[in-house]
Amino acid sequence: MSRYDFEIPVTFKHRIVFTRDAFSPENTHLSEILVEGGGRRAIVFIEDSVSAAWPELADRIQTYFLDIDLEFRGTFVFPGGEPSKADDVLVREIWTALDTAHIDRHSYVLAIGGGAFLDSVGYAAATAHRGVRLVRFPTTTLSQDDSGVGVKCAINTHNKKNWVGAFSVPYAVINDFNFLHTQDKQTLRAGLIEAVKVALVKDHELFEWIEENLAALVAPEPDVLEMCVEKSALLHARHIATGGDPFETGSSRPLDFGHWAAHKLEAMTHYQLSHARAVAIGLALDTLYSARSGMLKFSIADRVLNVLDALQLSIYHPALDWLDESGRRRVLDGLDEFQEHLGGELTVILLQDLGVGVETHQFDESLLGDCIAELRTRWESRA
Ligand SMILES: NC(=O)c1ccc[n+]([C@@H]2O[C@H](COP(=O)([O-])OP(=O)(O)OC[C@H]3O[C@@H](n4cnc5c(N)ncnc54)[C@H](O)[C@@H]3O)[C@@H](O)[C@H]2O)c1
Ligand SMILES: [Zn+2]
Repeated sequence: MSRYDFEIPVTFKHRIVFTRDAFSPENTHLSEILVEGGGRRAIVFIEDSVSAAWPELADRIQTYFLDIDLEFRGTFVFPGGEPSKADDVLVREIWTALDTAHIDRHSYVLAIGGGAFLDSVGYAAATAHRGVRLVRFPTTTLSQDDSGVGVKCAINTHNKKNWVGAFSVPYAVINDFNFLHTQDKQTLRAGLIEAVKVALVKDHELFEWIEENLAALVAPEPDVLEMCVEKSALLHARHIATGGDPFETGSSRPLDFGHWAAHKLEAMTHYQLSHARAVAIGLALDTLYSARSGMLKFSIADRVLNVLDALQLSIYHPALDWLDESGRRRVLDGLDEFQEHLGGELTVILLQDLGVGVETHQFDESLLGDCIAELRTRWESRA
């Protein structure tokens, strides 16, 4: 009898670009990345709302590829938004398109859309031929300041958020700021929540900068919005690259502050509540809980809630008070599901100070109930 343990070291290059007008003939970021990697073919998937907002986009992409020594297999438009990851319909359509276009592991799949669309196309790309090269073009605030530079993709199944998915480092991420400016105002503003989140757990200076620039962010003043997106994306990417656990094999997920409740609220509301808006509520809840359990000053919790208010993000949803047959709040199942998703001990990030997240392994459900009641009262008084 013998046992052999091998170490398999693998490193990835995470290429992230911030630019404007990525498909203008003068903009060589994309062409350089594609040429650098060699490869045979490229295919492009565009979310329908992006295609509608940028009707000339497909033609511009086609023209851009004329100068690149790759077989261009065309642009294809598919519906996006959260429904596009509610099942595997889009994933199967993408698989079929990849097969028909003979996309191989050295070919490129470009995906242009919001976080949900990128998640579905990304999952299809991560699983076709066990993974083809994905170049993401995030087009919303949230997908540029967070999910686009992440190394995950997933769709929702079993009435749970992101239950099926993969860890897969994209070949490149091109954050083209121009796309941000055709989002509706609410989506544009709400996506800043992930910047607030990462600032709260990682970088007090970014939180203070957001506080100082709230009016410009809400307006939005393009330069300030774009600066916020870039600062947030880089904090996320740096954590993934240097945090020691890019594929989340441990029990902790430091970038998921406020997310245990958020994911549950999204599923409970059948995804009527968007991810960004659900994170705002989850973040408000965990901030208040941090204060009420004695680890965070109330004055800081107030500052956080004021920022959410200024971004016009609600801090409460009636689903927080929905009960199961035993009279327990259903949202609390989110804690069990969060633990089960990662495995190991329940580990949730709370706040000790601005920019300082701490791990906790236990929640006092009665105290959580008090926090929910306070959020409801504050919300009613603001309504
Ligand atoms: N994979 C990850 O690591 C990760 C991390 C965070 C969030 N996510 C996921 O991201 C999703 C949320 O992403 P989101 O906030 O981008 O929402 P979204 O993808 O649902 O997009 C929001 C809306 O904006 C539209 N849209 C997108 N780009 C546009 C543009 N440029 N102009 C006009 N309309 C546009 C979409 O059609 C949609 O209606 C959630 O499913 C969440 O779970 C994934
Ligand atoms: Zn999130």
